[in-house]
Amino acid sequence: MHAEKPAVINVALEKAKPEDLPIAIRIFKHYGGYYEDVNCGNTFVARSESLGVVGAVKVKDTPSKGVVFLATMGVEPHLQKRGIGNQLLEQVIEELRKEGIHKAIVNFRASDAENLGKFFEKRGFVYFYQANKERCGMKRDL
Ligand SMILES: CC(C)(COP(=O)(O)OP(=O)(O)OC[C@H]1O[C@@H](n2cnc3c(N)ncnc32)[C@H](O)[C@@H]1OP(=O)(O)O)[C@@H](O)C(=O)NCCC(=O)NCCS
Repeated sequence: MHAEKPAVINVALEKAKPEDLPIAIRIFKHYGGYYEDVNCGNTFVARSESLGVVGAVKVKDTPSKGVVFLATMGVEPHLQKRGIGNQLLEQVIEELRKEGIHKAIVNFRASDAENLGKFFEKRGFVYFYQANKERCGMKRDL
């Protein structure tokens, strides 16, 4: 008999509110991501109706028009593999397309870079640099 998969947790993407920032920072910090510049203008959160904020992504402009960095992304550690990361990425891409963004660069330094790399690769991102096991960059046309 197969063990039952835990249910997917549905989330909606929102711009971070001031009270959400400590949660986003805690998640990014947990994975060794860069959190020092997190603010309401650059961070989106994934909110579950019953659980509150369970993931976050920080989006930053680049010098190129229509190209952004998805600079840091993370899901609440004990809630991984429940579909949150997938929804967070899909919804942020949708939001960016609406804003006329045509390319996303994922630029991460992370303790969990390998897992994150596989996750993005499955979703159409390709590596354009890999400095070491914990630092790399990937990109995708939106
Ligand atoms: C990478 C990351 C964002 C993925 O988030 P997640 O919520 O675990 O991702 P999802 O659940 O949407 O998808 C992950 C896998 O779980 C699977 N999955 C989704 N729902 C599932 C369920 N209910 N049961 C079992 N598996 C499930 C998905 O199919 C997916 O597999 P695939 O990639 O082989 O297709 C998350 O693991 C994370 O935050 N990692 C750390 C990131 C980090 O280091 N950040 C700091 C630097 S930027």
